[in-house]
Amino acid sequence: MELISTLVKKTIPNYLSGLPIPDTFGGWFKLGFKDWVSLVPPTALTAGLVYVSYLALCPASPCRSGARSNKRVNQKVRLNEAKVVDMIDIEDISEKAAFCRCWKSKNWPYCDGTHGEHNKECNDNVGPVVVSRKQK
Ligand code: FES
Repeated sequence: MELISTLVKKTIPNYLSGLPIPDTFGGWFKLGFKDWVSLVPPTALTAGLVYVSYLALCPASPCRSGARSNKRVNQKVRLNEAKVVDMIDIEDISEKAAFCRCWKSKNWPYCDGTHGEHNKECNDNVGPVVVSRKQK
């Protein structure tokens, strides 16, 4: 415990007070090379903490897993329904049909190629299921 106490009460404050942070805005332009180099570690540490905090607390991009806003697979298809179910008679399929599995098609339940944008944006590999008739 004494180690932590010393670190928090003495070592870190001494380190921070020794950094060449100028009192005025113009002082930044007078810093030398060594001054700038000495500012790199605390700046990198601060940037890392801000980035980790951002990842933990902010709404996620649609591609990041585990985020609060990203738990739904279906982000746009008939959101007012408890369950999205589509029935299609096999006789209605002429030769073949591509059905969306990425939940982003504007022509649901058919694939309209939107999965390509999603795959690029999210480094994903989703694609449709293609149903085809056997050639007789
Ligand atoms: S648009 Fe969804 S799989 Fe093609």
